[in-house]
Amino acid sequence: MQNARTPLESQGRANSRRPLRRVPNTSLKDQVGGVYYMRRDQVGFLQRMIETHGDIVRIRLLGIKMIMINNPDYFERVLVRNHENYDKTTFLFRAVEPILRGGLIGNVGGEPWRRQRRIMQPSFHQPKVAGFAENMTDETGQMLRRWDDRYQPGDVVNISTELGQLAMRIVFRSLFGAHVGSRGDSIEEMFLEANHIVGNFFRFPFPPLSWPIPPYRRLNAIIRTMDGYVSDVIDKRIGSDEVHHDLLTALMNAVDEETGTGMTPLQLHREVLNIIIGGYETTSNSVAWLVYLIGQHPEVQARLHAEVDDVLGGRVPAFDDLPKLKYTRMIIDETLRLYTPAWQTMRRSIEEDEMGGYHIPAKADLYLNMYTLHRHPDYWPDATRFDPERFSPEQIAQRPRHAYIPFASGPRNCIGKHFALTELTLILAMIAQAYRVEIPEESQDVEIEPLITMHPKGGIHARMERR
Ligand code: HEM
Repeated sequence: MQNARTPLESQGRANSRRPLRRVPNTSLKDQVGGVYYMRRDQVGFLQRMIETHGDIVRIRLLGIKMIMINNPDYFERVLVRNHENYDKTTFLFRAVEPILRGGLIGNVGGEPWRRQRRIMQPSFHQPKVAGFAENMTDETGQMLRRWDDRYQPGDVVNISTELGQLAMRIVFRSLFGAHVGSRGDSIEEMFLEANHIVGNFFRFPFPPLSWPIPPYRRLNAIIRTMDGYVSDVIDKRIGSDEVHHDLLTALMNAVDEETGTGMTPLQLHREVLNIIIGGYETTSNSVAWLVYLIGQHPEVQARLHAEVDDVLGGRVPAFDDLPKLKYTRMIIDETLRLYTPAWQTMRRSIEEDEMGGYHIPAKADLYLNMYTLHRHPDYWPDATRFDPERFSPEQIAQRPRHAYIPFASGPRNCIGKHFALTELTLILAMIAQAYRVEIPEESQDVEIEPLITMHPKGGIHARMERR
């Protein structure tokens, strides 16, 4: 009888002469001190690990072992080529489980995830997103008019707050066809608070989130409030005959083509929350970083102004203008490289695997950090410099595709990618049409605040001059 083949043998490894290498370990000092260093400077510590050990290294945090990878080929292996072998039963997703609860973002994987994605995917296809473009430009137009009334020439504005409100309004209006109104501000504050609590937990995962200490009790209260808000909207909608043209209606009517069944109200509730969570902070941080970077680079801003003036000639942009706003898109890509909002994720190997000659054991936790990947010196010369030219077609063609993955890659990539890129392009184009941005001297050096999403610490303060 033939012996059972190991997963690596069935991939042809059995014929390879090269023995697989063991993934290098960090030093004992970094294993013991990892949690302390992470708490002080999470990104700095992880970057140091990569610089010291190369593109793959074992790290350990409070006894939790992880393999950190930082190479486009390894990312491609995990997310695309052998994606079936990796799921989300990891520490990071267990940490956010009380918030995400089986919605698409934290769904472990396998058939339950595939079914959910099949049901939801059509609601995020380009033609549907095109239908939301008007929400985006209308809300942005309202924000700009408020700025005109509220600010005097030369005023320095904390634009993070303003742009947070804008992103919140856009996601709520697209989902529910409704204006968030005054509840929007408190929801936004709750988001920030929840982000701090969970972000701190990830940096120092003790005590467990189930312990009834004040920040975790607050987290539970926030979750209950958000649940209440979403339930109100869904309940009202279920009991109403009115016709709506929003994402919620699309999701309520969506069915899995393979089985002909749709979502239960509970699942719908979870997915709506996941869309708010996935779609709000990521875009609000991105626009804040966008304004910061164009404000710091007048030559980039001048080219942006020239493009929007040329393409739009003063009118409000529409979905069809997007392909013509090429330089605007290059600025967005470069911003999502430098300050990638969803900057870390994890996967767990189901069976053993191999990457670049290294052995990945079964049931290993893999840590994927897009912030360090997007600053990898082999693919991004002078990586900290802001340079939208990196996204010219010629330069893109010279890089491995997986050197740049702000929306992840493969079947579990971001379902809201088109939505986000449409939103970012329309907002940036409209701000550029109306304002010239300058970052005052005292606000030049904004630090990153790596929470669950990548925040600008203290917000972005900008001087907005009407053009
Ligand atoms: C700049 C904005 C955005 C960025 C950078 C971003 C990034 C990402 C990334 C990296 C993932 C994969 C996470 C992982 O594998 O662990 C993801 C997943 C997801 N995103 Fe986004 N996202 C953005 C905007 C949005 C928007 C606007 C929505 C909804 C309207 C959204 C909804 C989701 C959902 C539901 C998932 C889970 C998909 C699945 O697992 O099948 N995101 N996003």
